[in-house]
Amino acid sequence: MAELNFAEKRVLVVGGTSGINRGIAEAFAREGARVAVVSRKQAKVDDTLAALRKAGASAVHGFAADVRDAAALAEGVAELHKLWGELDVVVSGAAGNFPALASTMSANAFKSVIDIDLLGTFHVMKAVYPFLKKPGASIINISAPQAVLPMLAQSHVSAAKAGVDMITRSLAVEWGGEGIRLNSIIPGPIDGTEGMARLAPGDHLRKAVVDSVPLGRMGSPQDIANACLFLASDLAAYITGAILPVDGGWVQGGVAVVGSTLGDVIEKSQRDSASISD
Ligand code: NAP
Ligand code: COA
Repeated sequence: MAELNFAEKRVLVVGGTSGINRGIAEAFAREGARVAVVSRKQAKVDDTLAALRKAGASAVHGFAADVRDAAALAEGVAELHKLWGELDVVVSGAAGNFPALASTMSANAFKSVIDIDLLGTFHVMKAVYPFLKKPGASIINISAPQAVLPMLAQSHVSAAKAGVDMITRSLAVEWGGEGIRLNSIIPGPIDGTEGMARLAPGDHLRKAVVDSVPLGRMGSPQDIANACLFLASDLAAYITGAILPVDGGWVQGGVAVVGSTLGDVIEKSQRDSASISD
């Protein structure tokens, strides 16, 4: 009978030093896996490694790199391979977000999110490919509801994350013959995270979010980690190319309601700042 068994498995979580992705890294650590993390800030990497050790990881490793820097990422992953050998699980979740309407956002602002989320995901896929366990490796890309539903002030993120999901589906086809599985997870609104602090600041928006989730609550990093453990395990051996919402039903429509509430808030703040500068 297939089961969850990650003892000594080699797991890399890119962007694994805060929020949802750190919750995923810690969940694999609690299962006794060897867990490596990457993000831009060495201090966040160091803090996370201490937490992973405490959680029960059989080994930990980390390095600082920006996913926009393909060479630095490739070098760090090659170093990891020298230490641990082939990777069993890769979670790719580094991302940037801020609310901004297309009419006022600069081209560089749009590009910054495309560079981190979309190109960054491609860089991660390229960096890990030579070092994946073949057959057997599982890659999980962290997407977002905006990939499948438009949301006001999120055109940059929608475009980037829709692209991420198509990377997942395309590489599931390209790499399936080598026994590599790729899936995306679409997290719903996850409580206490940077993403929610940016998209739902204040009680008004927070309540709008909670009210718009069919299951009536925000999610937790553990909700997303549970889905990762499943997708990375032999229980999901025949699942590849799937885009899995783990969101309390939010992508059935609620996300669009929150988008229009967020859009109203942004438009009002832009009107207010225009009238202050008049
Ligand atoms: P978060 O706490 O800001 O986590 C982002 C992580 O990525 C951090 O470890 C950050 O560390 C790293 N990172 C950011 N830019 C990077 C870059 N250029 N290169 C390398 N690492 C980088 O965010 P979160 O809210 O938990 O979101 C995590 C993921 O879930 C994202 O993919 C997001 O799109 C997705 N998601 C979140 C929600 C939500 O409710 N929060 C909902 C749907 C989807 P450094 O600062 O050290 O680089
Ligand atoms: N509204 C509109 N434009 C914004 C913005 C905002 N809130 N924040 C940044 N920008 C613009 C900047 O003005 C700049 O454009 P410009 O050169 O035309 O002025 C462009 O975006 C890049 O900003 P910069 O600060 O140089 O980017 P960075 O590479 O240092 O940081 C971000 C990338 C902007 C995505 C930053 O928010 C980040 O690092 N986020 C990671 C954490 C995160 O977003 N977590 C949530 C994940 S869901």
